[in-house]
Amino acid sequence: MFWLCSLFVSIWVEFSGALGHEDLSAHRHPRNLAVGPESALYDAKHGIKMGVPNGGCDDAQTGLDMDWDGSPTEYVCYYPTKPLIPNRKTKSRLECVHLASDYLPRHFCMNEKLTYNASIPTHGDHRPLWPKFGEYRYVPPQRWLHNIEHGSVVMLYHPCTHHRVVDKLRQIVKGCLRKHIITPSAALTRKRPLALVAWGCRLTMSGVNETEVVQFIRDKGLKGPEGSLPKEGQYDFHLLEQAQVVPGSDERDGHICPHYS
Ligand SMILES: *[C@@H]1O[C@H](CO)[C@@H](O)[C@H](O)[C@H]1NC(C)=O
Ligand SMILES: *[C@@H]1O[C@H](CO)[C@@H](O)[C@H](O)[C@H]1NC(C)=O
Repeated sequence: MFWLCSLFVSIWVEFSGALGHEDLSAHRHPRNLAVGPESALYDAKHGIKMGVPNGGCDDAQTGLDMDWDGSPTEYVCYYPTKPLIPNRKTKSRLECVHLASDYLPRHFCMNEKLTYNASIPTHGDHRPLWPKFGEYRYVPPQRWLHNIEHGSVVMLYHPCTHHRVVDKLRQIVKGCLRKHIITPSAALTRKRPLALVAWGCRLTMSGVNETEVVQFIRDKGLKGPEGSLPKEGQYDFHLLEQAQVVPGSDERDGHICPHYS
């Protein structure tokens, strides 16, 4: 009987895998974990220590479906014949909030849901392990908000944006800062399908104005409570291309956008 059951389970898993969805349901949810001062994971600053993989809390592999169930709706354009193209009349919009100097986001294990008030949050509680810098098929805000706290600039684009527009912005971001994250996001509007996010600020855009983009990255990059921390992340689920040191700069992004005037 046991043998029959396990055979059945393995067939079901194979079948659900064949449906094209990420088979994240196979990952068990971690146990509820109380992290007190006696725990190796305890950190007085954030509640839970960052960057320490822990199977019971966050190992960047288990229970990821709490933040993203692998659904393609975040990264697939469902109207591919009508790519979004820039409208010169639509001005970019820069929105910043003042964050208290003693404000620190907290870390939460994968068994707790994290939601945000804004469709494009600029700060907030997040997961203990942060994504490796670079470009992703998709990475959820519960992860990239941690990079923001470490001074990253995050580039978001609506999956229907014309690929040449996406590439123009991508090339500037990659040529400006090693500590970047690039991911599509269905949270963007069709009117302003591009965004850059940094600590407390977001710039949403219809198209790419190089001057404006470079200025945002220079002004807002490397900010945040741990804005100068160069440490690489641990999470690499659906990472497409890891970030490189920008030629003319260094590991710490000592020169932001070195080849732009
Ligand atoms: C969301 O808004 C509510 C009500 O204004 C506020 O109490 C809460 O702290 C906000 N949450 C976040 C994560 O900003
Ligand atoms: C690009 O942005 C700069 C700075 O905001 C502005 O002066 C310039 O007119 C913009 N260029 C175009 C083509 O909109």
